[in-house]
Parts: sequence; structure tokens; C-alpha cells
Amino acid sequence: MKYSLKDFDVTDEKLFLNRRQFIRAGVAAGLSLSAFPTLAALNFRANPNYQPNLKLTDSEHALNYNNFYELGTDKSDPPRYAHLLKTDNWQVRVEGLCAKPQIFDMDDLLKIEQEERIYRFRCVEGWSMVVPWIGFPLSKLLNKVQPDSSAKYVEFISILDRENLPGQKFNVLNWPYREGLRMDEAMHPLTIMATGLYGKELENQNGAPIRLVVPWKYGFKSAKSIVTIRLTDKMPTSSWMESAPSEYGFYSNVNPNVPHPRWSQAKERPLGSFFKKKTLIFNGYADDVAGLYKDMDLKKYY
Ligand code: MTE
Repeated sequence: MKYSLKDFDVTDEKLFLNRRQFIRAGVAAGLSLSAFPTLAALNFRANPNYQPNLKLTDSEHALNYNNFYELGTDKSDPPRYAHLLKTDNWQVRVEGLCAKPQIFDMDDLLKIEQEERIYRFRCVEGWSMVVPWIGFPLSKLLNKVQPDSSAKYVEFISILDRENLPGQKFNVLNWPYREGLRMDEAMHPLTIMATGLYGKELENQNGAPIRLVVPWKYGFKSAKSIVTIRLTDKMPTSSWMESAPSEYGFYSNVNPNVPHPRWSQAKERPLGSFFKKKTLIFNGYADDVAGLYKDMDLKKYY
């Protein structure tokens, strides 16, 4: 059940908090969402700092050409099996090296001001898209748990539900899907937890109800359907590092000068376009993030 967030501008706290319950009740009663026009209230504002003059990818592509191995390895599997991802009563546990570990439910997370940001997104496989994500900076969530100074990395863990998720019946990856960032990357203002795209709640195939988006890194770093965020002093081993260490490193910054061992990374094909275009270092965000890696050999730390 999806609705347009832009259609509503309701700030009543109670309505806001009860949004999901009302929607569920409406669906249970067999009513369409339009029967509750003022209840599906979730505000977001377009953040003018992240509204570049880029042509948006047609949503049809972003919603139908996906990588989400929990739902299958084919690009068409995630939309086809999206209904098998159960997102009711979702909680995100933020734990590890911090003063105030906490469990957040979606209503807590939707209380953090939601922004729309237009980001370039590039998959390691060579396709790319420009998408209006809705979400909030990860730093706002991490600050709530008060990270210890010993916390140097953040680990992200996606849903584990072997019973319902068809892809988890096969060991194509060591489930659950795991990713990681260095603390300064996690706290960087470009790094967001996304709850929506194209003005609406996230579709299941895009990682509902909440996923990471790190726009200067290859798409696989942007873990979907996250249930645990863990502050740690050790560099986490991501699922892809574990499955193919010579192909996937921890950093995975978009870099046209460092080829993947099996293919070039110099060009990309924007979804919906026949022609390829040149890939930009850090996916075009060098002014913002190159400083994070200034003394590092990017060929070694790929
Ligand atoms: N997160 C989980 N949990 N499982 C996955 O298989 N695939 C990754 C990333 N996050 C993946 C994931 C890859 S390879 C990419 S390119 C992006 O999700 C794709 O995001 P999109 O389908 O929203 O474009």
C-alpha cells in the first residue's frame, strides 16, 4: 500500500504517530487509501542543497530493475517477489559502542525530519540512475545513541527471514546481507537513511521500510531493509567482501580509474538511455568527499 507523501501536509502529532495503524485499519476494512486523505501524513521538504539540475531517471526503471538478492538474483525478481518482504512492525536496533543503545520503530524514525534529495546512484555492474530519495541524514540517528570515541566503524545488517524471502533459501551470500562504513563516512552529510523515493514510501523492492543510501559509493554499499546498525572499533566484513574479497573491497568508492577485476568502471549506462556516459570519480561528489581519502592509495583501498 503506497501513497503520495506530497499530497498531505498534516502536522498533528497523533495523526502522524498513528499513520501506519490507520492505514492498516483502512486496508483491513477493504477501503482504498483515498478514504483516509488526511491520515497518511508524512512531511518531507525538498532540501535545496541536494536538488541538482539533473534529469531524473523514469521511476519505472528505478522500481523495476533492481538488485535485492533476498528476493532473487534476477533484476526482475525484486519487484516480482516484493510482496514476500514483511515490513509490519519494523524495528531498527542501534547498538554497539555507544552510551545509549536503542531500538527505534518506524514511527520514531519518521519523526526525524524527512528530506527529499536528488542523488546520482551507480551500481558496480555499470548502470546508473538519478533518483529523488526521501530520508534523513544517518548522523541524526547515530547522534541519538551517543557513539563512544572508540567507535570507528558502523556495520549495517539487513533483514534475515529465510521462511519468507525466496533468495534466502539459497546461500548465494552468507545471510543476512551486511555492509559497513567508516565512522566519518557514516557521519558525512551526504549519507542518508532513505524511507521513500519519487515522493512515496519506499517500494519493497527498493529496500522498504528503511535503507542506506551512500551516493559516492557503488550501489551495493547502500544496504536495504536494515534491522541493525552497530557501532564498532573493527572494520566490518561486508557480505560482498566475504564472498569475493579480490573483487569487492571495504571502500568501494565509485572510481573510473580502478577497474573491477572482470570489467572496466570507466563508463556507465543511465537506466532508460541507450548510450553510455563517462563515470565521474566519487560519482560526481568529489568536492564533498575526496578529503575523506586524501592520504589513501585508492588502488589499494578499493
Ligand atoms: N541490500 C540488500 N539487503 N540486498 C541486496 O542484494 N543489493 C545492493 C544494494 N543493497 C542489495 C542491497 C546492490 S548490488 C545495489 S546496486 C542496490 O542495492 C540496488 O538498489 P535499487 O534496487 O534500489 O536500485
